[in-house]
Amino acid sequence: MASLNYSAPSTSHAPRCRGEFAAVVIGNHRLCRDHYRLVLRLENFPPSHPGQFVEILAPLQAMDSDSHEIEWDFGRPRPPLRDQFLAADLPYLRRPFSIAGRRDGPGMAYTDIDIIHRVVGKATGILEHQRPGDKLSILGPLGNGFRVSERVKNALLVGGGVGIPPMIYLAEKLARRGMNVVAFAGAQSRDLVSLTLRPDFAVPADLLPVMAAAEFSAFGVPVVLATDDGTLGFHGYVTAALDAYLRCHAELRSEQTVVYCCGPTPMMRSTSVVAGKFDLSCQVSLEQPMACGMGTCQSCVIKYRPADAADWVYKLTCTDGPVFDSRDIIWP
Ligand SMILES: Cc1cc2nc3c(=O)[nH]c(=O)nc-3n(C[C@H](O)[C@H](O)[C@H](O)COP(=O)(O)OP(=O)(O)OC[C@H]3O[C@@H](n4cnc5c(N)ncnc54)[C@H](O)[C@@H]3O)c2cc1C
Ligand code: FES
Repeated sequence: MASLNYSAPSTSHAPRCRGEFAAVVIGNHRLCRDHYRLVLRLENFPPSHPGQFVEILAPLQAMDSDSHEIEWDFGRPRPPLRDQFLAADLPYLRRPFSIAGRRDGPGMAYTDIDIIHRVVGKATGILEHQRPGDKLSILGPLGNGFRVSERVKNALLVGGGVGIPPMIYLAEKLARRGMNVVAFAGAQSRDLVSLTLRPDFAVPADLLPVMAAAEFSAFGVPVVLATDDGTLGFHGYVTAALDAYLRCHAELRSEQTVVYCCGPTPMMRSTSVVAGKFDLSCQVSLEQPMACGMGTCQSCVIKYRPADAADWVYKLTCTDGPVFDSRDIIWP
């Protein structure tokens, strides 16, 4: 099924085998007010790594004012003027989404990947309407992925909003390695928590990690839930929850603990500050707006300066990242 292969530049922690794939939609379930879990089935999908992402081309369809699907096919006669306006507004560029989970079929005959997406604009507005059997073009797996050191025993996974999905895939990998993993998941409010809450577990307002979210408890990983408005779990930013948790758990403040983080830029910057305060290593997966995803368009640059470098340089989030050591980033 793979029809396009290219070698990406840069340093990487993940295999560089990738391509373009035709994916079939297996399911698209609503998780909360704005988030959906899209399950895609692909053939011959290469090995992937938590922190990597795919670029999805939303199909060239639009919804008209009566919510009927309009097909735009340039081989056909021109559509009415109103429909041309709709077509001109279609998302022609692919959109990046983290891999939230992966299951390989018997003998690797097929692979199912999970994408958890929040409906915020054109492409995600189209993805919201995908149904089982629909087809999507996928480019991936892209980017480097999180680094996992043999020496590390404890992992604190901090996800905010659409940064939670890569933490689910990472939680599975780390838990299978026998690491002590605690997830911190933050959302603005209860109705934006993009996780399946288990009815048999109450979500405490304190910092006690519990098996409350099915996505994490499936791998034996407890979660601390935080909402900005206090409508579920800890009242406050997820970074404040991490800070308070680390103040209570002196045993985690060691070289054997790593903080992994993904979310909005201010939240990752704040996580980086908390990790630095406790002298912990921190990897962040940047969700910089990007177009090509393969190092061509230069739309995803960040300023980067490792500790031993005299000056900063530009790095590409799509191919040099999206995962970086938080200390090496010059935050905007
Ligand atoms: C590496 C990576 C992984 C990502 N993983 C996920 C994921 O797992 N789940 C998910 O829901 N989203 C994820 N995103 C963000 C996702 O790509 C955007 O939400 C998506 O491109 C929006 O497309 P759209 O056409 O629906 O919105 P558009 O119509 O293009 O934009 C709608 C609004 O969202 C803003 N916007 C678009 N992209 C971003 C961005 N990257 N950061 C901040 N604001 C943005 C626009 O400025 C605009 O205000 C990821 C982004 C990156 C770079
Ligand atoms: S998205 Fe095009 S170079 Fe990074």
